[in-house]
Amino acid sequence: MNILLTGGAGYIGSHVVFSLLDNGHKVTVIDNLSTGHKKILPKKINFFDCNINEKYKIKEILQSSNFDILMHFAGFIKVEESVSNPKKYFENNTDNAISLFETCLENNLNNIIFSSTAAVYGNPKENKPISENELLKPLNPYGESKMRTENYLLKNKKKINSIILRYFNVAGADNQLRTGLLSDAATHLIKIISEVAVGKRKKICIYGNDYTTTDGTAIRDYIHVSDLADIHVKTSEYLLQNRESNIFNCGYGRGYSVLDVINKANNITNGKIKFEISNRRPGDAEKLVSDVEKINKHLKWKPKYNNLKTIIHSSINWEKKIYEENL
Ligand SMILES: NC(=O)c1ccc[n+]([C@@H]2O[C@H](COP(=O)([O-])OP(=O)(O)OC[C@H]3O[C@@H](n4cnc5c(N)ncnc54)[C@H](O)[C@@H]3O)[C@@H](O)[C@H]2O)c1
Repeated sequence: MNILLTGGAGYIGSHVVFSLLDNGHKVTVIDNLSTGHKKILPKKINFFDCNINEKYKIKEILQSSNFDILMHFAGFIKVEESVSNPKKYFENNTDNAISLFETCLENNLNNIIFSSTAAVYGNPKENKPISENELLKPLNPYGESKMRTENYLLKNKKKINSIILRYFNVAGADNQLRTGLLSDAATHLIKIISEVAVGKRKKICIYGNDYTTTDGTAIRDYIHVSDLADIHVKTSEYLLQNRESNIFNCGYGRGYSVLDVINKANNITNGKIKFEISNRRPGDAEKLVSDVEKINKHLKWKPKYNNLKTIIHSSINWEKKIYEENL
């Protein structure tokens, strides 16, 4: 397959680039490096330093090759920042995405895989895994900006074959440590734990211990980034075979509380992970666990790294590499 991939210099996109290359596919990356890093990308790809809203440049890229699929990862991802600056999120995650999709359509590329998020679900009331049919009620502008982009794709089903992938909490790093999460202002729990593990931070802050969960801390479904990358390879094959739109949750269907994750990390690090309790953050949901029946059935996908210890281990190993090699 010949894949055009936006946001490839970011955390998830770069893992997908490696997975696609490992599976013998051709990859072209578009990234403006606003939060991404070119140094985590392999040399044997075409790379364009370009904003997805630069219609003329995108048109030239689209006309330079016969792409089978657009994978759209580029976007901003910080929930808290989206609450303080919603405009930034609607502009990049919705308006720029739609501009990109329209340029693709004008240039005959109508197979799209879109990186969406469990944040579109908001805070579902029923205490059960969330299926793709759940009513969407995002709690923050980040989730809302992604929902609006999903709505554009769904409204244009006749013209666009799209697969919307709703990622739950993505964590971990490539097991060969070719790439991982590089961020100066990390907001991901397992990344922050890893920074504490290598001594880059003193402690971790738990935002809220008064949720109605067993230990009071919020519950999430953590998926290893390499399994998520594999989902993208499988989704591409599925999309080209079926040429019809669909929506899949991407998670393992199992929830861990913040304290569960810290306890597991403390087992691995012999108690290095100190923490303190702080107030809840605006826009945070209490519990997000995916129902994975649909993705398992349609993609016949089987996870390889479905183990919290493996996920935390790989993340700490990557953090050590960043520290030792000053990445
Ligand atoms: N990380 C998670 O846990 C998670 C969970 C759910 C959904 N997602 C979604 O997955 C996607 C990738 O997330 P990530 O964690 O890899 O984020 P990231 O910030 O590491 O990567 C995003 C990449 O997009 C690029 N980019 C942003 N705006 C751009 C623009 N206008 N033009 C060109 N490039 C642009 C950035 O430079 C960066 O390389 C995002 O769309 C995000 O909403 C991530």
